[in-house]
Formats: sequence, structure tokens, C-alpha cells
Amino acid sequence: MKNKNNNCKVDLNAICKKAVGEGLRIDLSGCQYEEPSYPMRPKGVCDYYCFLAGLVRSERLTSIVEIGTGYGGSIKAISTGLHPDDRSSSALITVDIEQKNKAGFVGFSHIKRITGDALNRDVIHKVSEYTGGSVDILFIDANHTYLQMRRYIAVYANRFKPRFVVIDDIHFSWFTDILWKELELNLGENALDITDLLLRGKTGIGIVYWGQRQRFYWHYSNYITGILNIVSRCIIRMKRLLSISRSK
Ligand SMILES: C[S@@+](CC[C@H](N)C(=O)[O-])C[C@H]1O[C@@H](n2cnc3c(N)ncnc32)[C@H](O)[C@@H]1O
Repeated sequence: MKNKNNNCKVDLNAICKKAVGEGLRIDLSGCQYEEPSYPMRPKGVCDYYCFLAGLVRSERLTSIVEIGTGYGGSIKAISTGLHPDDRSSSALITVDIEQKNKAGFVGFSHIKRITGDALNRDVIHKVSEYTGGSVDILFIDANHTYLQMRRYIAVYANRFKPRFVVIDDIHFSWFTDILWKELELNLGENALDITDLLLRGKTGIGIVYWGQRQRFYWHYSNYITGILNIVSRCIIRMKRLLSISRSK
């Protein structure tokens, strides 16, 4: 089915609910956000680790790119979520400017860690090499400023055209709120705020169905174009609403 932007439309809500159900059945006890001394997540609640693992399992995603490894909790959760039949054919790549928690990756040698700025040309080239250019899911959880997050999307989603982009901390600040609004305006029902579903509290989390498309609008990554785009899209919407109400 196509939506008004002539994009393929998927039922993101159903996909996410299925992922939560699947994720709750996966044992993620080895996947901590930080060092092992950090408190474990409460059992029975599907947080974003549980969701990522469940999404990978239920949608049979095998080519995964993460921007922002941290201590490795999320990529290890994703790895644990891989369907048993997909493990040998999967590609898991995670990028971080620092290489933290080397010891925590023992037993996860299949995860390819790239150290460097995710927007560095060589880093992007390496990601491309390891994935073979095709990505199922891009998980963005690095620098949470508007410009950086917009660039991660512009560069990685446009280049690799992942099926899904999961963006953590979409309500981290006013500016990340603006970014999320842009995505919603641009992608309509193919952008879903799943903050409440995952009980993600104030910082928020969202998922986008990107699809096999270049979205050139995302190449222009600065505040002014972002704000101008929002304003112009709001005007177009208002005009549409006015013409509908006049024709009634
Ligand atoms: C919130 S932590 C990631 C947490 C991890 N995804 C998890 O859930 O377990 C953010 C990480 O992004 C990294 N980072 C910040 N800016 C970056 C950049 N430009 N390129 C790559 N990594 C970056 C930081 O070093 C930090 O380790």
C-alpha cells in the first residue's frame, strides 16, 4: 500500500507490539547499559533493549548498524535477539568515538566495532564494506544534538536505505523534538513515537520505516533548512485543511 508521499506503508504499530511480545521472551541478562555494577532493568518491562532484540527476532533482521556503542548493552541485546538460523549470516556493526568496555565484548567477537566519529568518511566507508551496502536496521544513539542526529539520518539512512531506523532520545531537548516533528511531517505514518509503548519516560524513542529510498530533503542538514521545512509543510497542511473545509 502507498501513502500520500507515494511511499510503501507498513503497520508500524503492529510491528512494534509484536516486537515487544517477542522481546519479553528473550533473556537479556548479560546486556547491561553500563558496567555490570549498574542496576539491571526491572523484569517484565520491555525497555529499548528488549524492544530491539524483539524487533530483530520478529522481523528476522540480520544487517544491523548502531551509531553509539557505549558499553555495548544495546548491540549485545540486538545480537541476543538474532534468530538462531540467522546468526551465521548476520552483520552487526557498531560505531563509537571511544572504545569502552573491551572486556564486556568477550564472547561477542562477531560484533564488528568501529572506532571513530560516525560521520567520518573512512568510518562510513568501513560500515559500507562490512554491511555490503545493505542494512536492515539503523539504531541511532550517539550525540543528541539536533544537527548531529539529523546528519546521522541524512548520511546513513540515505546511503544504506535501512528498512527501519530506531532513534533514541527523540524528546531529549526542544531541538530533538523539532527533529522528530520533521520526521513525522516528512514520513507520516511511517514515523512512530514509541515512547509510551516502551515506558521510555522523558527522553523518548521513535521508529521510522525508511524503505528503499533516497530522501534528498534530508541531505540539507542545518537548523535553518529544518525550520523552513517545518514552516513550509505546516503552511501546505493548513492550505489543504482550508480547501477541504471550503469545499464542504
Ligand atoms: C548513550 S551512549 C550509547 C549507549 C548504547 N547505545 C546503549 O544503549 O547501550 C552514546 C555513545 O555515543 C558515542 N558518540 C557520541 N558522538 C559520537 C559520534 N559522532 N560518532 C560515534 N559515536 C559517538 C559516545 O562516545 C557514547 O559512547
